[in-house]
Amino acid sequence: MDITRVCVVGGGTMGNGIAHVFAQKGFSVTLVEAKKELADKAVATITKNMDRQVAKGGLTAADKDAALARLKTATSIAEAAGFQLAVEAVPERLDIKTAVFKELEAHGAPGAVLATNTSSLPITDIAASLKDPSRVIGMHFMNPVPVMKLVEIIRGKKTSDAATETVKALTVKLGKIPAVANDFPGFVSNRVLMPMINEAILCLQEGVSTKEDIDTIMKLGMAHPMGPIALADYIGLDVCLAIMEVLDKGFGGVKYKPAELLRKMVADGKLGVKSGSGFYEYPKK
Ligand SMILES: NC(=O)c1ccc[n+]([C@@H]2O[C@H](COP(=O)([O-])OP(=O)(O)OC[C@H]3O[C@@H](n4cnc5c(N)ncnc54)[C@H](O)[C@@H]3O)[C@@H](O)[C@H]2O)c1
Repeated sequence: MDITRVCVVGGGTMGNGIAHVFAQKGFSVTLVEAKKELADKAVATITKNMDRQVAKGGLTAADKDAALARLKTATSIAEAAGFQLAVEAVPERLDIKTAVFKELEAHGAPGAVLATNTSSLPITDIAASLKDPSRVIGMHFMNPVPVMKLVEIIRGKKTSDAATETVKALTVKLGKIPAVANDFPGFVSNRVLMPMINEAILCLQEGVSTKEDIDTIMKLGMAHPMGPIALADYIGLDVCLAIMEVLDKGFGGVKYKPAELLRKMVADGKLGVKSGSGFYEYPKK
């Protein structure tokens, strides 16, 4: 199927970046958000990020205008009916995602590929209640989406070869690089990354070091571009906790138990960059 129409569901940290890259690469995009104000906020973020690309010479002003003209918003999936590809980027909760996928199945073009940007939930579970689970696949973009090259593609137990090949080819069209994983908790990326972040939070919790020094040790000692504590804030502490809970449920054992300090931060509403406060503070500019 020649894919030209894309529906992105959720316009938060990831969804606005996903809509951004599809619109920039010539696809007609409908960004579906829960409320009009949130959809407008997502478009404002995309515009600001494209302005930055223009200022740096990575995008012409005319291409920016053309990309924004290809981007529409909606507050229901029905308004985007007829899309050939959907990418879901709503919060990391199976109940929310399952409800979204039922709507996607009802409103997509026949044979539309239905992708999820989940960080850790089983693709097989997200697809379970659909009539045709072979079209459901993980398309796991990295944050920030316009910058990061990798898309981790996850095959659920029933994902077809055709859907996998379609999504791999689309990834290349977006100027990104696909890498395929099977449907195990956390896939590859978060099974490796998140226990490291959790361990860094445990180091802070137990007084092994300060957050600044933990980040310095990992940046300068391991050549990581960002320290794990700052990275957790950037990803969103609620997202980090949700992923650790999936790993804990999937594998068990002390290795995957979420740090108490991580739980407390989330319970206190300190979610990182997106809430203005996490392990570090992010004053509004
Ligand atoms: N944050 C990251 O670094 C990161 C990286 C890779 C993958 N992910 C995954 O991407 C997904 C989204 O994460 P995020 O960080 O963008 O979350 P977020 O909280 O920033 O954004 C989620 C958005 O979904 C919207 N939403 C909720 N229910 C909706 C519905 N029914 N219809 C339309 N919109 C709805 C919310 O209003 C919100 O704007 C999660 O599955 C997460 O695990 C996150």
